[in-house]
Amino acid sequence: MIIAIDGPAGAGKSTVSRLLAERLGCIRIDTGALYRAVALAATRAGFAARDVPELEAFVTALDLRVTQDAVFLNGEDVSSEIRTPEASRSASAFAAVPCVRAGLMELQRRLGRSAPSVLDGRDIGTVVFPDADAKIFLTASAEERAKRRLAELRALGLGGGLSEVLAEIEARDMQDTNRTVAPLRQAPDAVLVDATSLTLEGAVDACYAAVQRQLDQGRE
Ligand code: DC
Repeated sequence: MIIAIDGPAGAGKSTVSRLLAERLGCIRIDTGALYRAVALAATRAGFAARDVPELEAFVTALDLRVTQDAVFLNGEDVSSEIRTPEASRSASAFAAVPCVRAGLMELQRRLGRSAPSVLDGRDIGTVVFPDADAKIFLTASAEERAKRRLAELRALGLGGGLSEVLAEIEARDMQDTNRTVAPLRQAPDAVLVDATSLTLEGAVDACYAAVQRQLDQGRE
């Protein structure tokens, strides 16, 4: 079983996906963490976010492992390092590079097929698993997403004001939506869940109900 959850930065995909996966008895695969780890590795190796053949080979040669709450890059736990605002910017820039996306495609498909999974990202329902059993597009207003992201950053002990975080979110939306390869889009058969005025539990309930509906339709 493959459940795809796509949507813009800060809509609550991570937490909702984790809780939804628990409820459905699935594993959760954070594909954004893969892009973040790749961006970190590529930056460390001196690559710029440009489409060069060596970058795809570099990406496919990386040893990337994701567990329910950690990400390992060639054996090193990089879970905290990939969560800074700088890492978000860099992940979005590298994610716009076609050969980086190509380099991560097989890994995402292999992980998704390894067990019943909830995968969250930007192009899961449109490109990685267009035949997913259920698809959700989880969004919220940019202001609400900025407020939530600010709270997450504060919890990590990182600074920044609301206007700064809002500008970051809008810049990342722009980059993720306007890139030429696999841009952020709602798949035509995805169910839209707008979490702007929902609590976390409310968003999980809405997603769970939408998934059940789609699974039921698939069985008919
Ligand atoms: O979900 P996130 O914010 O951790 O993702 C970080 C960046 O990675 C995001 O700005 C866009 C990119 N990404 C992507 O292009 N495709 C995915 N499936 C997941 C993330």
